[in-house]
Amino acid sequence: MEEVNDIAFRILCKKAGAGITYTGMIHPQDKREINLEDKPVLQLFCTTTKNIKEFMKKYNSKVSGWDFNLGCPAKTARKHGFGVFLHHDLKSIEEILQTIRQNTKKFFSIKLRKSKYTKEIIKIAEKYCDAICIHPRTQQQGYSGIIDLEFAEKIKKQTKLPIIYSGNVVSESGGPHSGDKKNVEKFLKTFDYVMIGRRAIGNPNIFSKFSGNKKNFTFKDYLKLAEKYKLPFRQIKFQAMQFTKNQRNAKEIRLEIFKIKTLKKLKEFTYNVFS
Ligand SMILES: Cc1cc2nc3c(=O)[nH]c(=O)nc-3n(C[C@H](O)[C@H](O)[C@H](O)COP(=O)(O)O)c2cc1C
Repeated sequence: MEEVNDIAFRILCKKAGAGITYTGMIHPQDKREINLEDKPVLQLFCTTTKNIKEFMKKYNSKVSGWDFNLGCPAKTARKHGFGVFLHHDLKSIEEILQTIRQNTKKFFSIKLRKSKYTKEIIKIAEKYCDAICIHPRTQQQGYSGIIDLEFAEKIKKQTKLPIIYSGNVVSESGGPHSGDKKNVEKFLKTFDYVMIGRRAIGNPNIFSKFSGNKKNFTFKDYLKLAEKYKLPFRQIKFQAMQFTKNQRNAKEIRLEIFKIKTLKKLKEFTYNVFS
């Protein structure tokens, strides 16, 4: 997830038991250095093949795989035509998937939303990809509203590619539309893998619940890694806010964190808050 999946957070998710972690979306023309020491799957977004080859040459040995984003519903995606807004352009999608495939032998997946083009895109993906991740909501739905499970099930039947299911996957206490206490078991009866998004934000321990791992990470663990990888203060502060999620008085704590302007102060404040 964009903003959320920095290297320190990804490492905690892996330690807790996540099988694969993904980076947030990265544009192949982005010149910033990316630390991939933890070997995530790197997710690309773009509308043309420009610079894909050069970008992949630089990072292919450092990642465990590649993903192409065809799901982003955001305003910026609409403005530039990427993510779910590229769905209608099957020609560009084929060129991009082909280019990615030509530049790696590693695992390669696509992340898709529900649209009238999804089935056509899957036919193209079958030529180049190793797996498909489906989030069965439309662009208009964003991240809320009823998930079209039937649509995802049809996709599963349509293709032999493994399907990673994404959307309201929970480990306990039920999601807003799940109706189940542990819907992951239900999803895994139909799909090959599940992806956990929002429930992991500020809570990498969610993966421990699936892996049976006894690890319990707090913001202090995040902080150690964030310092090791020299993440910017802005990012560390953002994650501190997210980790308050399961704290008592979370709102008050967030307000205090919001006011903090230095790493030293953030460390002092969070030392007692996150035990
Ligand atoms: C803040 C945020 C950032 C996200 N960033 C990405 C992204 O960069 N790439 C992507 O494929 N999906 C992204 N997603 C979508 C999630 O991967 C996931 O498909 C969606 O949230 C539904 O799953 P969930 O109910 O487990 O959250 C993002 C979602 C959120 C809420």
